[in-house]
Amino acid sequence: MKAIILAAGDGKRMKSDLPKILHTVAGKPMLHCVIEACLQANIEDITVVVGKKRELIVERTPYPVSYVTQEEQLGTGHAVLCAKQHFTENDDILVLPGDAPLITSGFLKNLIKFYHDKEAKGVVVATTVPEPFGYGRVFTDGENFEQIIEHKDLAANQHSVNLINTAIYMSTGRELLYGLERIKNNNNQNEYYLTDVPKIVKDAGHKVLVYNSPDYTQFLGINSQKQLAEASLQLRSRIIDKHFENGVQIIDPTCVHIEADVQIEAGAILHPGVIIKGKSHICKAAVIGPYSQITDSFVGAETTVSNSVLESAKVGCNCQVGPYAYLRAGAVVGDRCRVGDFVEIKNATLGNDTKAAHLTYIGDAQVGDRVNFGCGSITVNYDGANKHRTVIEDDVFVGSNVNLVAPIVVHNNSYLAAGSTITKEVPTDALAIARIRDQSNIEGWVPERAPKKRK
Ligand code: UD1
Ligand code: CA
Repeated sequence: MKAIILAAGDGKRMKSDLPKILHTVAGKPMLHCVIEACLQANIEDITVVVGKKRELIVERTPYPVSYVTQEEQLGTGHAVLCAKQHFTENDDILVLPGDAPLITSGFLKNLIKFYHDKEAKGVVVATTVPEPFGYGRVFTDGENFEQIIEHKDLAANQHSVNLINTAIYMSTGRELLYGLERIKNNNNQNEYYLTDVPKIVKDAGHKVLVYNSPDYTQFLGINSQKQLAEASLQLRSRIIDKHFENGVQIIDPTCVHIEADVQIEAGAILHPGVIIKGKSHICKAAVIGPYSQITDSFVGAETTVSNSVLESAKVGCNCQVGPYAYLRAGAVVGDRCRVGDFVEIKNATLGNDTKAAHLTYIGDAQVGDRVNFGCGSITVNYDGANKHRTVIEDDVFVGSNVNLVAPIVVHNNSYLAAGSTITKEVPTDALAIARIRDQSNIEGWVPERAPKKRK
């Protein structure tokens, strides 16, 4: 079994510079959804027909597939013909559109079984939709295929026909080639329509059947931004249903976005407005609070994250993150930590039981266990040209508003006095104070010397 996925169309109706099939539904490019459905249905020989921007498509498609280029977009029939080096007369071929991202592997398996059981030379997949506008219509005689007429070529009395062509077909290589070599472009769009092939094959006396799928929602073809959003909505609700099945509590499923590859363990709770993307993993009983955005990140068991942004970050168990924390790439937080409001962590490791409760920047740092960051303390990691590392060992108390000028090492159990700008290594058990001089109060300075306040 070989699959040919048609993905060379311009996608003009999207009005976008990105190739249509790279537009994402629930975070995944449409083409990837179709490829994954094939792979999950055990179809491993896949050829993708691409058009303009081939390099971009190849670069963004990390699957073991072959590509052929259709230089000019002369129609879906012409597109399949471009792939003819990739199959022989004796192969069984599945043809799929690259713009139907809701197709499931379960459907593909049923289709393949139908094709084999019925010993058909060709199968056209059709489905009944409430709104057939824009689709090719399928005409049948019972299970036997008669013809497909494209929307633009319909006669006035045919518009109400709501059995539509899904653009998914199965055929033997021999009959497919026979049909492709005979199609013409004498239609409304002057294109070589793949939809004419099954009729040519049937008229040559072969058995061509219609596989009428009851679940029309799988076959939404994406031609516009509106349809893209509709497909995303559907895919999101499928994803959410899977998490419900797995025991995840989602308080308001209408306003939570979870991408397809996200893993969430049972007992996790997602509050409204949560967005979880990429290869994120949320452990059991974690609570993801309102409006958090989590991308490619790991959140440990029983950790609470609220109103925060995590990007390529890892947070241990029983932590409290947020509200309003920002964990950037390479932020690794241990267990039982607190990362409070307006705390930013980048490329830094925090040990266990460490706390930065508010207004702190920790970048390019290695921080031990039980360290406490006072309000407003920061690592000064950048000298205008290079980034430098801060090392803070265990049990250090960083006073409020301390600047740690990197590179610097602060040893175990030391105290950094509030307001200090620390530039030198601090030994174990020491108190480091670095302020210009002690406070002196000049009595009576304000009435004599201060600029006069405006009344
Ligand atoms: C197509 C079908 C229509 C069906 C509908 C289902 C044809 C002529 N029509 O219409 O019967 O109801 O899909 O969604 O096939 N493509 C190429 N090269 C081309 C033209 C298109 O690779 O020269 C690719 C596109 O990238 C797309 C797929 O083929 O992935 C379908 O093309 P599209 O233009 O979207 O066809 P529809 O008008 O939707
Ligand atoms: Ca389409």
